[in-house]
Amino acid sequence: MEINSRLILLLGLLFLFCMVSFSHGKRLKPRFRLKAVNLGGWLVAEGYITPSLLDGIPNKDLLDGSQILFKSVATGKYLCAETGGGTIIVANRTVGSGWETFILWRINEKTFNFKVFNRQFVGLDMTNGNGVDVVAIADTPGKSETFEIVRKPGNSSRVRIKAPNGFFLQVKAKGVVTADFAGKSKWEKNDPSVFEITNIGGLNGGGEFQLTNGYGPERAPQVMREHWNTFIVEDDFKFIAENGLNGVRIPVGWWIASDPTPPYPYVGGSLEALDNAFSWAEKYGIKIVLGLHALPGCQNGWVHGGSRDGTQDWGKTDDTIQQSVDAIDFLTARYAKSPSFYAMELMNEPKAPEATLEMLNKFYMLGYDAVRKHSSTVYVVLNNRIGKIDERELFPLASGLKGIVLDLHYYNLFNTKYYNLTAQQNIDFIYGNRSRDIDYVTTSNGPLVFIGEWGAEWLVEGASQEDYKRYIKALLDVFKRASFGWAFWSLKNVNNHWNMEWLIKNGYIKL
Ligand SMILES: *[C@@H]1O[C@H](CO)[C@@H](O)[C@H](O)[C@H]1NC(C)=O
Ligand SMILES: *[C@@H]1O[C@H](CO)[C@@H](O)[C@H](O)[C@H]1NC(C)=O
Ligand SMILES: *[C@@H]1O[C@H](CO)[C@@H](O)[C@H](O)[C@H]1NC(C)=O
Ligand SMILES: *[C@@H]1O[C@H](CO)[C@@H](O)[C@H](O)[C@H]1NC(C)=O
Repeated sequence: MEINSRLILLLGLLFLFCMVSFSHGKRLKPRFRLKAVNLGGWLVAEGYITPSLLDGIPNKDLLDGSQILFKSVATGKYLCAETGGGTIIVANRTVGSGWETFILWRINEKTFNFKVFNRQFVGLDMTNGNGVDVVAIADTPGKSETFEIVRKPGNSSRVRIKAPNGFFLQVKAKGVVTADFAGKSKWEKNDPSVFEITNIGGLNGGGEFQLTNGYGPERAPQVMREHWNTFIVEDDFKFIAENGLNGVRIPVGWWIASDPTPPYPYVGGSLEALDNAFSWAEKYGIKIVLGLHALPGCQNGWVHGGSRDGTQDWGKTDDTIQQSVDAIDFLTARYAKSPSFYAMELMNEPKAPEATLEMLNKFYMLGYDAVRKHSSTVYVVLNNRIGKIDERELFPLASGLKGIVLDLHYYNLFNTKYYNLTAQQNIDFIYGNRSRDIDYVTTSNGPLVFIGEWGAEWLVEGASQEDYKRYIKALLDVFKRASFGWAFWSLKNVNNHWNMEWLIKNGYIKL
């Protein structure tokens, strides 16, 4: 009797304890770990994943964000925004670097705005000047900041720059630049209106912005629709389910929330593709981690963040944060009832130091509330900032919330770039350093841990298939310890070692 009643008391207490810790529970405990693959380059296009998607763009070396040098063929000097911007344009530098670089905003295949080092736009001085002086003083581009690039027939590296007053830019004595050269050119070497154009980089891999704006409003809708309908299809979900994977992570951009009429230059139709993904996922029993990868203003300056020209402005104004929260609200409401909707990732790869911890704390809290408004069970995934940070910096925020997952991205390719590691050293790095990294963020009452992106590419020259296999085995051995699971980047890619489908079909990966 005595023992029994004690036992009952004990069981009662245990029950009570369970109740309390359940209702209090910071942890929605997953019953399995994700073995997932990213559907990268699909609803947020990326040129390095599908380069051929950009092939039909006219003047495709002149996309948004391209970094351009103009060298006078007559004087051999580069056009330059004096002091980096805020004053006149000159042509008196022999080396092309920061101040000599013009970043393109594309209006159409021939017409552009030129953004300078200090972020002003090149234009004609209409207020103080005579309308022919060339300056970089406008903070936003208008009509007098819009120039046409005219290419020499038969040699696309020779150009003339037509100003909005109808005249061409020319270089005068002492490197003075004015927009007052009238008429045609014979493109000769002494012509002061002829420049050699060089593209020295920028975002030429291109993303959704570069692609849609590159094709323009007539062609982009058709090109994008074709891409959405063919790049990922139902059979891919079948393949995923049959090869030991149980999830997908799907990157989307903020503009999807205003489908079918997203803001310029994005085009409608991606929401329908996402709806399809959900119904295929349901059919094949696949879980979805939906991730907001491109946020208004861009949270990292990269094309997969939706950047136009490499700048990062997300979080600097409240409306960029509010628009992001609205997108999360929209997506969670739409898919809350789907049994495949497993997690909502609020933001991908915010970059430090521009994205501050304060911005993140504010946004992640609002985003969490937006998700919880529609679902108490969908996990909320928070991505750590990229940069020099403490990987536990989001712990204080997470401790008050329920069902939180911390997402970490591990690419040896980028993270050990300067170490010149051999194949074996890369493998040792995974078993050693990476294990320790995961241990550091794995705590009994902290957030769940997700390795939401990793790849099989590295910087080992001439690695054999065996090397790759051993490396991938190490990655899987270590990442399976992440309490929420992992997601490989990505399902498809023109580069085989970034392409999970190829790696599985060719025996590199066995799950
Ligand atoms: C280029 O021209 C500007 C304006 O005349 C002048 O201030 C600057 O010192 C010149 N720079 C060089 C390198 O000649
Ligand atoms: C095209 O123009 C560039 C820039 O002036 C020049 O360097 C190059 O030699 C030209 N190419 C041909 C084929 O004429
Ligand atoms: C890696 O290799 C490069 C090029 O060979 C060399 O300049 C650099 O010092 C090496 N770095 C280390 C950490 O050994
Ligand atoms: C890996 O960890 C070891 C030991 O802490 C450290 O010396 C080494 O620099 C780390 N390697 C890299 C590439 O960070």
